[in-house]
Amino acid sequence: MTAYLITNVSVLGATPTDLLIREGVVAETGVGLTAPGAVTVDGTGLVALPGLVDLHTHLREPGREDAETVETGSRAAALGGYTAVCAMANTSPVADTAGVVEQVWRLGREAGLVDVQPIGAVTVGLAGERLAELGAMADSAARVRIFSDDGHCVADPRLMRRALEYVKAFDGIVAQHAEEPRLTEGAQMHEGEISTRLGLTGWPAVAEEAIIARDVLLAEHVGSRLHICHVSTAGSVDVLRQAKARGVQVTAEVTPHHLLLTDEKAVTYDPVYKVNPPLRTAADVAALRTALAEGVVDIVATDHAPHAVEDKECEWAYARPGMLGLETALSITLDVLGPRWDLIAERMSRTPARIAGLTEHGHDPAPGAPANLTLVDPAARRVIEPTELASRSRNTPYARMTLPGRIVATFLRGEATVLDGKAVK
Ligand code: DOR
Ligand code: ZN
Repeated sequence: MTAYLITNVSVLGATPTDLLIREGVVAETGVGLTAPGAVTVDGTGLVALPGLVDLHTHLREPGREDAETVETGSRAAALGGYTAVCAMANTSPVADTAGVVEQVWRLGREAGLVDVQPIGAVTVGLAGERLAELGAMADSAARVRIFSDDGHCVADPRLMRRALEYVKAFDGIVAQHAEEPRLTEGAQMHEGEISTRLGLTGWPAVAEEAIIARDVLLAEHVGSRLHICHVSTAGSVDVLRQAKARGVQVTAEVTPHHLLLTDEKAVTYDPVYKVNPPLRTAADVAALRTALAEGVVDIVATDHAPHAVEDKECEWAYARPGMLGLETALSITLDVLGPRWDLIAERMSRTPARIAGLTEHGHDPAPGAPANLTLVDPAARRVIEPTELASRSRNTPYARMTLPGRIVATFLRGEATVLDGKAVK
């Protein structure tokens, strides 16, 4: 195994030090380390963070390998500073059996660029009618702990209650895509002034807030863990704040795009901005930023949603919702939170690792910690070129934008997956 000596690097913004990585762990830290035979990485000007963990990634394999594969998505993740991603279940076939989650898990191991932790579907075929084989997925080699019908809401309250009860047996968690479907039929964008002006059917904030309110009550009732995917409205933040104050075991994520972009983007009619939940108002964005800083929203998750050109470069109404996220998430978060490295580590690594039960991840680079870490150049600025992304898809909303921060290197269990800003394999 290669040893790496990272010199003169700032761990989470602290005074620069050297980091020796050997045998999969951070072996030593201190000024002036020497390590014969180790590969030296000049860390001058760089910040070391625990490897990022994404709780919400669409890798599209099996079924839509034209949009992304476990391998291409893993490479995009590593280049974005991630060492672990949780792969959403809305593949084809759906990841609703031990067989499919084991397949995704195995493909992740073969790619070897990040740890790929499959998420299992809550209901068979994401149809919202019958519970999937949650126990079999939990007992499988993939050791599934997060269950989600993401893309669809588990709308039936009885099914949701049973899922919450069921996962308690193995300390699992249900991740809800909060969208009351009866309130969003035909919806194309956020319901508000702009949807009225454009004549597009609106997706009202209350469709999200009503499900979150219902589900925190259900989670409280059964004493189970609930996670809310891609929270997008100020009203959702209020519901979460109240639930947390009461001690409900609820966590929530926000995406980089909901922290940065607003429904104003829809006036372009460019489907790259079509996403579910939709981009909201500037007031929602402000509330989400505050909630993230305060911890009412626990984490940043990408909802990386690659789509093939024909599914995205078409009329708005026919375009699939979703946008790429893995290769730009750290930059957007840095832009939004500023260089508050401890907070960034908390929201993008430690807390998502804890929620997902990924015990090898989310550790600050310190002696004895598993060497899952990433090196960021905070002073760098880069122009996003869609064709230069490692993802197989091109649907980034940040095309040709200049973003702060650049991932220089990423290490997974002590092996470099990214060096000099390039994927190692
Ligand atoms: O925009 C979205 N895209 N939201 C979802 O919930 C699903 C995702 C996808 O799978 O493309
Ligand atoms: Zn979703």
